[in-house]
Amino acid sequence: MGKVVAIDGPSGAGKSTLARSLAAALGFEYLDTGALYRATALALRFKGVAPEDDDKKIKDALEGVRIDFRDGKVYLDDRDVSEEIRTKEAGHYSSVFSARRPVRDFLLPLQRGFSSSSSGGKDLVVEGRDMTTVVFPGAWKKFYLDASLLERARRRYEQMAAARRHISMEDAMEDVALRDKRDSSREIAPLKISEEAFYIDTTNLSESQVLEKMIEVINGCWMAGK
Ligand code: DC
Repeated sequence: MGKVVAIDGPSGAGKSTLARSLAAALGFEYLDTGALYRATALALRFKGVAPEDDDKKIKDALEGVRIDFRDGKVYLDDRDVSEEIRTKEAGHYSSVFSARRPVRDFLLPLQRGFSSSSSGGKDLVVEGRDMTTVVFPGAWKKFYLDASLLERARRRYEQMAAARRHISMEDAMEDVALRDKRDSSREIAPLKISEEAFYIDTTNLSESQVLEKMIEVINGCWMAGK
């Protein structure tokens, strides 16, 4: 098994950007587990599964589904769905389906497989909601990235505008708040701050300031905790 830098945090805290830059700085591979949840939700929707369907239907629908993440792109049955998973709808369904046991059971071995010796024991920077607590509890370094609700909604708004998928600031606030609630209140693997994680509030920090802080932590200059 390779070294794992595990990053958790709510939507819009800057995890993806930071995980990507940190991976590049360390020479590690990058894994966006939110993309895996989004691709899984897409697979379920393609198969006509609805949020109110029971666990058996979800489990059966996921039988034989192949999801992969390579070079920053996510594949569903070998088709690149990196763009498709970024719609508001895909975000919504990924948050809803990620609370379901068969979905989490389906993705757990897949995520761990990225750092296992069978896949070459790669060193990884992984980001998601349960990286430090459930998927890689023995991670080499752990972080929790956070930011105020307003700032995270602002980032979501800009991200959608950049992708020419305009939403209002009110919609962005509502969407982020709803996802926070769902991701932290679900029964299985809820988003929470691990005591072993180094907490960074990114609200008033630039990307390079956060990256610098993370590298300092990795080099052992800081202790974990909030
Ligand atoms: O990070 P993201 O917005 O792309 O993630 C999409 C959804 O997937 C998010 O609302 C919660 C879920 N998710 C999860 O439950 N566990 C993870 N490790 C990553 C994402």
